[in-house]
Amino acid sequence: MFVTVFLLLVALCAHGGNGLEEEAARGAGHVSVIIVGGTGDLAKKYLWQGFFQLYLHQAGGGNTFSFYGGGLSPAEKATPLLFEILKTVSCSKDVSPERCALLKEQFLRLSQYRQLKTLEDYQEMTKQIEEQLQQEGMVEAGRLFYLSVPAFAYADIAEKINSSCRPSSGAWLRVVLEKPFGHDYRSAQVLSTQLGNSLKEEEMYRIDHYLGKQVVSKILQFRKDNQRFLEPIWNRHHIERIEIVLKETLDVKGRIPFYDQYGVIRDVLQNHLTEVMMLLTMKLPQNLSSSDEVLRNKLEMLNSLMPLGKNQAVIGQYQGYQEEVQKELNRTKDRISHTPTFAAVVAHIHEAQYEGVPILLISGKMLDERVGYARVLFKNDVFCLQNHNNVHCKPKQIVFYFGHGSLGYPSVLVSKNLFKPAGTDALWKEVTDHKDVAVLGLSVSDYNVQVPAVDKEAYAELISHIFAGRKNSFVSTEILLASWALWTPLLNSLTSIFPRIYPGGSDNGAMLDVHLNGKEIKYNSEVVIISPDEMGGASPSSYQVMKGKFRSAEMVSAWTEDLIERLAADMQGAAEAAIHQGGVFHLALSGGSTPLALFHRLALYHFSFPWRDTHVWMVDERCVPPTEQDSNFHNLHEHLLQHIKIPYYNIHPMPVQLNQRLCVEEDGGALLYEEELKKLVNGSSFHFVLLGVGYDGHTASLFPGGKLDHHGESLVALTESPTKPHQRMSLTLGAINRAHKVAVLVMGKGKHELVTQLSRTTENLLRYPVTGVNPANGSLSWYIDYDALLG
Ligand SMILES: *[C@@H]1O[C@H](CO)[C@@H](O)[C@H](O)[C@H]1NC(C)=O
Ligand SMILES: *[C@@H]1O[C@H](CO)[C@@H](O)[C@H](O)[C@H]1NC(C)=O
Ligand SMILES: *[C@@H]1O[C@H](CO)[C@@H](O)[C@H](O)[C@H]1NC(C)=O
Ligand SMILES: *[C@@H]1O[C@H](CO)[C@@H](O)[C@H](O)[C@H]1NC(C)=O
Ligand SMILES: *[C@@H]1O[C@H](CO)[C@@H](O)[C@H](O)[C@H]1NC(C)=O
Repeated sequence: MFVTVFLLLVALCAHGGNGLEEEAARGAGHVSVIIVGGTGDLAKKYLWQGFFQLYLHQAGGGNTFSFYGGGLSPAEKATPLLFEILKTVSCSKDVSPERCALLKEQFLRLSQYRQLKTLEDYQEMTKQIEEQLQQEGMVEAGRLFYLSVPAFAYADIAEKINSSCRPSSGAWLRVVLEKPFGHDYRSAQVLSTQLGNSLKEEEMYRIDHYLGKQVVSKILQFRKDNQRFLEPIWNRHHIERIEIVLKETLDVKGRIPFYDQYGVIRDVLQNHLTEVMMLLTMKLPQNLSSSDEVLRNKLEMLNSLMPLGKNQAVIGQYQGYQEEVQKELNRTKDRISHTPTFAAVVAHIHEAQYEGVPILLISGKMLDERVGYARVLFKNDVFCLQNHNNVHCKPKQIVFYFGHGSLGYPSVLVSKNLFKPAGTDALWKEVTDHKDVAVLGLSVSDYNVQVPAVDKEAYAELISHIFAGRKNSFVSTEILLASWALWTPLLNSLTSIFPRIYPGGSDNGAMLDVHLNGKEIKYNSEVVIISPDEMGGASPSSYQVMKGKFRSAEMVSAWTEDLIERLAADMQGAAEAAIHQGGVFHLALSGGSTPLALFHRLALYHFSFPWRDTHVWMVDERCVPPTEQDSNFHNLHEHLLQHIKIPYYNIHPMPVQLNQRLCVEEDGGALLYEEELKKLVNGSSFHFVLLGVGYDGHTASLFPGGKLDHHGESLVALTESPTKPHQRMSLTLGAINRAHKVAVLVMGKGKHELVTQLSRTTENLLRYPVTGVNPANGSLSWYIDYDALLG
């Protein structure tokens, strides 16, 4: 059987007659394709068709093939099933019916079913492959395993492949994997480690079928072809926002056992939409064919995203979902699923090029229409007084239209008020005679439209890439983990949030509209259908701010958000008063996690804060380089300084790194800071000092047992922390107590015990350094949230 087919292929081959050695050197030879899960849904719908297309294109190219559909069922049972599927494969229009029939017949003859359950099954298959190679005197080019099975089976199959199916040296092994690749960062890491034990990175091809979509795979090429138009405008000065949207009309009936564990963020945003975001915003590779460069630039882009928290997302769930969950998972009525079926997320890139450009990632089930697109909307500074229909007054945008929707076909659309895209390659063509529909606010006639010359199915496209060993449209382990590192914290923060319930279809109306507020996203309308589940958490007293005394000083107490709001307002008040009086405001800020919420509040809501006349000082610093996460200054920069307009020369980090070393006494860092402070701050009295307090009662970097009374007249000192990094630089109590105003911020249930102890303790420097805070001529205020105060 093999002989005949091989000869047929050689006969079809226009440039036949190469010697075997020569073929092997070119990568020619025999290829075995094994689809594990070969009678499953995906194989039925896309994979066999994709491999048939590969066979069509490769027929005559010097390779011979055999195809195996593998599965757990015994061969007697599954063989007829497999052949039912194989009979449905079809040729594209450009293949003549005769040739198509011939190749289809060959394809069927080259294919067979094999039970692949035990290690012996895999060994048997290898034996068969090798015997046939030997009998036909063929050189082996490679083996391609396509694992179309649930992810929990990957590690085991990969191990079997490694132990018994590796081809002899010289031939390649490629193993294709389908998502889900884990459920969160940890599980993805575990899975990657397991697979890494059996397969080399270059042998793994993780499929994201979005990368095979013609329009998606066109993005980089489009950016490159139109570089001369795009380079001047592909930045924050011109881009208003980027939207990456996948809307579906279907529900998830029948798939609940899978879907309820995943939800829309894991199912669509973490992979498909993230990939599109990378393609749109990554540094344009010099060489688009270089997988190394493409993957490296993608990773760089992912790593420059700002963290996603619950304020960067809104979630929804279609109304019928709970009932489906109850039915399919046999749950009782009171088990409520929080799994989102809709999500809108706003991401930001922390790079000068894109700073402040919102990137919206949106997907959902049971929406009004089926459509997928990525839209880059540009700012339009033209104002038309009379002729509003003038193209120059309309949205300026580039739309990568993945398909469906009003237009109905994949295309790249560039609004005519932007530019006329560069001429297309052979694979794309311009369309000018289109039906008159509106696409994202513009009539199609207002766009330059390019469409693929020939429709290609995503799986077929990716299969041809796997065969060619081109890895740039696959997901590397590094990118996979970086993507989970981005999404996992958001997923965790959403577990306690109840999604907005939406009716589904066009009845959703404006319910799922969102609006952007700085770096945050919210639903645009306040209508919420409240479930009983959602009640209970918030207390009616949440707007009260309580005033009182704590350790005979002023105390402000409230729920966390109100407390932060109040502290930020008080800080701005102090700034305005100081500047009014003396033209300058000296503010000293402490490190640690407590003040982060305050920094965010200041950055996002206090646009009128007089930063221009404010000097920012550090209360304390860890002896690490400022580039490290541990550095207080690093945090201050990340969460506050980079978001506000403050002159550089008003910023005063502590000099912990001098002479290429950290906090060495004789380098005199503490003294330097003290001198700077004395020179710039009138009477060395800060206007405002913000402190936190640790579980052990430390404040600034003044720790229990730290001989605080030995600091004498010094304003700045090197100190020792019981936790790493041990070395610190800190303002002394002397410096703190000279301030006009000192605020101590205490938050969280974990601090309740400490608050209780402090309320009973008189000054005890050795045990509770914070009790030494007692401004001689200024005022002290405690800001304590209800969690810390009431436990
Ligand atoms: C595959 O199996 C061999 C032993 O059969 C082992 O030495 C090797 O580390 C495994 N993994 C890879 C990636 O080759
Ligand atoms: C681009 O990368 C491909 C694949 O690595 C390589 O074959 C090709 O030579 C490169 N082209 C240039 C111009 O460097
Ligand atoms: C569904 O749950 C009920 C009550 O918990 C139980 O009696 C029944 O056996 C379950 N049915 C299935 C199919 O699991
Ligand atoms: C410096 O502080 C002293 C004492 O508080 C005050 O009298 C003086 O006006 C201040 N000087 C300036 C320039 O603010
Ligand atoms: C408090 O004010 C008095 C009088 O203005 C001054 O002499 C003293 O140094 C101040 N103390 C501190 C710690 O600033």
